[in-house]
Amino acid sequence: MKKTVLIGVTGCVAIYKACDIIRGLQKAGVRCKVVMTESATHFVNPLLFRSLTREPVAVGLFDDKPGDPIHHISLAKEADVFLIAPCTANVMAKMANGIADDLLTTTALATRAKIVIAPAMNVNMYEHVATQENMKTLKARGITFVDAESGYLACGDVGRGRLADPASIVAQTLEVLCAKRDFEGKNVLITAGPTVEPIDPVRHISNPSSGKTGFALAEAAAERGANVTVVTGPVSLGDPDGVTVLRVKTGLEMLEAVKKHFERSDVSIFTAAVSDYRPANPYDHKLKKGKDDGVLSSIELVENPDILASMAAKKHAGQFVVGFAAETEDVERNARAKMMRKGADMVVANLVGDGLAFGADDNAVTIVTGDGSVSLDTMPKQELAHQILDVITDEIA
Ligand code: C5P
Repeated sequence: MKKTVLIGVTGCVAIYKACDIIRGLQKAGVRCKVVMTESATHFVNPLLFRSLTREPVAVGLFDDKPGDPIHHISLAKEADVFLIAPCTANVMAKMANGIADDLLTTTALATRAKIVIAPAMNVNMYEHVATQENMKTLKARGITFVDAESGYLACGDVGRGRLADPASIVAQTLEVLCAKRDFEGKNVLITAGPTVEPIDPVRHISNPSSGKTGFALAEAAAERGANVTVVTGPVSLGDPDGVTVLRVKTGLEMLEAVKKHFERSDVSIFTAAVSDYRPANPYDHKLKKGKDDGVLSSIELVENPDILASMAAKKHAGQFVVGFAAETEDVERNARAKMMRKGADMVVANLVGDGLAFGADDNAVTIVTGDGSVSLDTMPKQELAHQILDVITDEIA
């Protein structure tokens, strides 16, 4: 069956280039459907896109469409990719804030399809901190950007803001549309987030891990065809589409859940920041200052099991185990030593500090494998997840 790209067209001079984009996608065998904003219809009559696509063009949220009372939902479901080109600063601002006040932005909020944005606007609007921040937010959510180019703009200014070349918009949209399925049928187990080790009912030992890296890997692996199970400590992230998420609190609970799934996992990725130690005797009542000072000032700790090392020790042929490492110095050497010590096949190491790693949206890592290493520059965790999966694919090939 033909794949469908829904093309969102917004009100901007570069709208005429949407015709070349549609033509390019059609040549690649893609079915194109267009949704326009009200402003876009001031530049071009929808009839142009209807003639090019031979499909009805959607504009108004409340337009009557016989047999389809909830048009934004049906459009959202029909799309394999939602490409918005040209995309104005206004539409990006609305999307970054979840505003859905017309058919195009409502569809963008309702769709589960991957979104590609090709922005176009005046240089000052493009460089405005609000626009830059909105783009950063959208990129961090996994939206693919075909960045605007520099050059002469319709308003006479020169600078960044010109819609990217239609050919590269088509190429990047096709790349997203035909995403890799190299994990098809593979079972992938991922640990994520922190663990929380109770001292008493109101106190615990934990760390600021957000779970973003593990969840980004889970999402990316699922997109690439894997059956993914995530065992996560407490995080504020929702379940990614098509991923089984098991929520636990302590390191011991995480170990139990991992044990149940490790045996049948082809690839296991241990991103969780498991507390190395836990209180030896968690109290079932709140320890009181003044009364329990002796206990509170010197809590006895015992070592938590090393989940990665204990699973790696059990691994059989065909299983691939990946560990993570947060290092403050000598990243590669320490990561390699950790890989050997824990019996992992690969370690993804990051230099912590400078706003990177814990809780951040971006990360830069060095990946160490049996026969080499590769360093990846700072990038959003979603993008990084795909690059880590690329390395795993190469290793298990
Ligand atoms: O020894 P270190 O904590 O630096 O090792 C980090 C790696 O080991 C990560 O992959 C982490 O998920 C895993 N780990 C584990 N269980 C522990 C401690 C770390 O699985 N108790």
